[in-house]
Order: sequence, then structure tokens, then C-alpha cells
Amino acid sequence: MTGQAAVIDFAVLEQFMIDVFTGIGVPEEDARICTDVLITADKRGIDSHGVGRFKPFYYDRVVKDKVQNAVTNFEIARDNMAVAVVDGHDGMGMVIAKKSMDLAIKKARTYGIGMVIARNSTHYGIAGYYALQACDAGMIGLTGTNARPAIAPTWGVENMLGTNPLVFGFPTDEPFHFTNDYATSIAQRGKIELYNREGKELFPAWVINQDGESIIDPSKVLQALIEGTAALNPIGGPGEDNAGYKGYGYATVVELLSSALWQGPYLKMLLGVEDGQKVPFHLGHFFIAINVSAFTNLEAFKKHAGDILRALRNSKRMPGAERIWTCGEKEYHAWLERKEKGLELNPVLQQQLSTMRDELGLSQYTFPWE
Ligand SMILES: NC(=O)c1ccc[n+]([C@@H]2O[C@H](COP(=O)([O-])OP(=O)(O)OC[C@H]3O[C@@H](n4cnc5c(N)ncnc54)[C@H](O)[C@@H]3O)[C@@H](O)[C@H]2O)c1
Repeated sequence: MTGQAAVIDFAVLEQFMIDVFTGIGVPEEDARICTDVLITADKRGIDSHGVGRFKPFYYDRVVKDKVQNAVTNFEIARDNMAVAVVDGHDGMGMVIAKKSMDLAIKKARTYGIGMVIARNSTHYGIAGYYALQACDAGMIGLTGTNARPAIAPTWGVENMLGTNPLVFGFPTDEPFHFTNDYATSIAQRGKIELYNREGKELFPAWVINQDGESIIDPSKVLQALIEGTAALNPIGGPGEDNAGYKGYGYATVVELLSSALWQGPYLKMLLGVEDGQKVPFHLGHFFIAINVSAFTNLEAFKKHAGDILRALRNSKRMPGAERIWTCGEKEYHAWLERKEKGLELNPVLQQQLSTMRDELGLSQYTFPWE
């Protein structure tokens, strides 16, 4: 290993991911779904949730920690007109999520709206993937998931709520759909892991310790989050001056929707550790698809949505600001740039890919850093 960043071609990375997933026992069709969710993050510039999560979040959890199953038993546990509850039986979260949104879309074709709750699931990656799935079907998509405790409630210092993304997708007449694909904390764990890999300090508003003071060293923060001695601030920040209670409220909405409809685990029950042993997370997710055509003409809707976004981008800018963006646009630009260049991997990720390759004996791969 050279210690330098190296670039990998997306097609090579994609096939490698499929081979690793199948190599650890994920059926091929499911391996393609897991790969597509992960690599979509990398293609869209969401570096906190792409290949950087491959080994620690999926490979290790299946192979080493044994807290999730490579084979996903997707069971429709309750089916009631426009709504359903599915049980993922601790399988692959991305497969459970993709199939859940497929089911919500199918119901929305019949009923105008479909909602699916997934129970006993595992980490599903970028929430935006599933909102975009609905957009591709000409629908509005909404999804969220609970996660390991990270966010402190307003005026609290204890990590109680997950980083709980609350994500909408709207189809538009633009080359990209609108999707506000983000956590309900200012920063989420993946971004802190990314800053740690890159040796960068965090912004002071992101994390607080037990005294309510900022911590900016990412490695200390990651450890303190595990120990429960640090917490992420909700969107809006600590206290009430910048309305942190709004992010806190939205994070709570996600926690409620992800667990109360099946009385699943919540808050500190989602640590993933019991008596010092790693245990399955039993996460909950929700998926809503709203069939635009049940309300109005789809093309007229897309133009209307696009008009709103264009008006926002064309509004008067702050002095010195180069441009105004709308949600989903930066990710579209990231892909335009990356599809030509490939994906840059830092030495930490290079090592992780090489390790998985060697452990699975995938000797057909020689990486650019070798
Ligand atoms: N599965 C989980 O448990 C979990 C938990 C938290 C977050 N996530 C995922 O992590 C990823 C990153 O989340 P994040 O909170 O770091 O996101 P982020 O803070 O980087 O925000 C990204 C979003 O903000 C939009 N955006 C960025 N700059 C903008 C601007 N100037 N104007 C308008 N829109 C702008 C982007 O288009 C995108 O939708 C997401 O894909 C999210 O779904 C997953």
C-alpha cells in the first residue's frame, strides 16, 4: 500500500461489491440490491454512506459480529389495504427497504397512497435511495429509520435518539428529483467517521460532551458516542436560540414512526450491545408512496415542482454566494463529475477492500493501489 489516495473505476467497484456480498452468503439478486444502494451513495458524493461503510457496517456485521443475516427472509406480516407491516428477520436492511418501498408503490397504484412499516431490520444506508425509488415510479416518496442512539434532546446531553433521517422525494421535470436526504442531527455518525478517516476536526456545533461543551476531535467523539459520554446536536443546534427543538422534534417523529406502529425497540434499546455482546439492532423503518396521478396529471406536477425549485435557485443571492442550490442537485452534479473520474479511495478504505478480497480469496482482483 502506498499511503496515497487511489482511484477505482465504478464498474470494477460495483462488481467487487457484488462478489463480496455473494461471497459472504447474500443471494445474487439481493447482493445486487445491496451493491446498488451502497454505490449509489458513492456516485452521488455521499461519502459518509458508501464504500466506507461496506466493511464495518455490512461485511463485519454478517461475518464477524453475526448480528445480521446474509439471507433476507422478507415476510409480509400484516397486510391491510393501503398499509402493510413487513418483518425483515434481521436480514440485509437495504433489501428489506427496497422491497418495502416496492410494496408501498404497488399499494399506491391501487389506493393512491401506500405505507409500509419494516420491523426487525438492519442498517438501510442512504434513505434517499428509497425516496428516489418512488420518484422513479412517478410518486412522492417519504422514508425514515431509527438508528443507534446519538442525538441529545434539547437541554439534554445524553445520546438518546438516532440520527433518524426524515427524507422526502418529489419527481420534477429537472434532470434530478428533489430529495432532502439528511439526518435530523446537524452531522451524522458517517460524516464523523469520514472526518476521522481524513484526519479533520469537526465543527463546534456538531457534538457536545456531558458538560454541554463542544468536542471537535472525531476519534474521541466516535469513542464517546459508544460510551454514551457525547451526543450529537439536533438540526438547529444546542439549546433554543437557534431552534434546536425543531430538529429534536423531527428526530422524535422518526423514532415514533419507526417503532410505535410495531412496538419495536427505541432510543437506548438500539445500542446493539447487551451485556458487552453485540446483538441485532431490530431497527424499524417507514416508507410512504403517494401516487401523484391519483391527484393530478403527473407531467403538470413535475413542471410545477420544477418551477418552484427554479424560482428558489433564481432568487437574489447573499453577497459573495456563487449560487443557490435545491435538494438533490449537488448529488446529481457529483455523479456528473465522478462518472468520468471514478472514485477516489483513501488508504484506510483501500486496506478494507484488500482485506475483504483476501479473506474471501477473490484473487481475480488486483487494485490500483497495489
Ligand atoms: N440509515 C441511517 O441510519 C442514516 C442515518 C442518518 C443519515 N443517513 C444518511 O446519511 C446521508 C447523509 O446525511 P447528512 O445528514 O450528512 O446529509 P447532509 O447534511 O450532507 O445533507 C445532504 C442533503 O442536503 C442537500 N443540500 C446540501 N447543500 C445544500 C444547499 N446549499 N441547498 C440545498 N440543499 C442542499 C443535499 O442535496 C442533500 O439532500 C443521507 O443519505 C442520509 O439518508 C442514514
